[in-house]
Amino acid sequence: MKSNIFLSSLSKDQKEFLNLLDLTAKVHREVKPVESDNSEPVWQTDFFHLDNSDLWNSLSLKKQRSVLLKLGEKIFQEAYFIEYAGMSYAAKMNLVSKSKEEREFFCFVAEEEAKHLRLIESFGNFSVASENISSFALLVGEIIHEANRPSHLLLIQILLEGWGLSYYKNLSKFSRNETVAQVFKQILKDEIRHHSAGVLLFAQIKETPAFTDQDQTEFLSFLERIAFMVKIGPWNLCDEVFKHVKHPTKEKLRTFLEECNGVVVTSEKMQLLEQLLEKNLPDKVLKIIREKRILDPMTLDEMTEALSQSISGTFQLVEDRK
Ligand SMILES: [Fe+2]
Ligand SMILES: [Fe+2]
Repeated sequence: MKSNIFLSSLSKDQKEFLNLLDLTAKVHREVKPVESDNSEPVWQTDFFHLDNSDLWNSLSLKKQRSVLLKLGEKIFQEAYFIEYAGMSYAAKMNLVSKSKEEREFFCFVAEEEAKHLRLIESFGNFSVASENISSFALLVGEIIHEANRPSHLLLIQILLEGWGLSYYKNLSKFSRNETVAQVFKQILKDEIRHHSAGVLLFAQIKETPAFTDQDQTEFLSFLERIAFMVKIGPWNLCDEVFKHVKHPTKEKLRTFLEECNGVVVTSEKMQLLEQLLEKNLPDKVLKIIREKRILDPMTLDEMTEALSQSISGTFQLVEDRK
């Protein structure tokens, strides 16, 4: 078995530490998911809105399968790194807690994030090499390392964990693998509490001097970066699909985005972000967000342009050849 080969390369102390870790997880009632067949794509065309796309349907079944497998791998990979970041987040919030109760809460959160990470990890079949960390997960890591408590509460617990609720719900709903569906459902239950705690803790400082002008500036600059990553549209999907398209052009990308409803699906995501913030932010900060149009969705032309420029050279090459 693969794990035996891996373990045999570890030192005696490391092996003993792993045993201790497993024992600790067991004492904390870790539930391991039942083994399941993960050779088939977990998320299929309905999840990615591909059913009405002529461009997608023109790809061979073999190519379609390989794209769906790759996209599934990226979903697991991102969830893995986000849960990993969740452990650091809980530790950081623990240290800056304002009360004994808050500290207790973040100790439990840390345990839950470790369990989430181990659940995602159990599906294997995806690379955890650091060069595969998505730019979104990198940004989350940067926020955790650099931001202050108000930005943490707003960006991580209110915005990202709040958004994660609908994302994990969808991952569970559209999963063709029952074990994967159950795991995301299980994680979701914890994330609901994490999000609610963020809402309650931020409410205590929302209209007070503890949410300083500097905090607001920090929050807005990170928000702008998060919003751009969302509003650019289905980056991973286009990246994977267009690797298999002969002569990729901007026009084909534009048509594909139309066929898979890219603008509408992305606008809904932006609306969700806005709703989460509307409920929690002071009016003056909401006003700045609207004035700067931070959460405004892109038009089809803007999305086509932004994606064609950012996807690994695919489209530039075609433009160059003209
Ligand atoms: Fe989590
Ligand atoms: Fe969480």
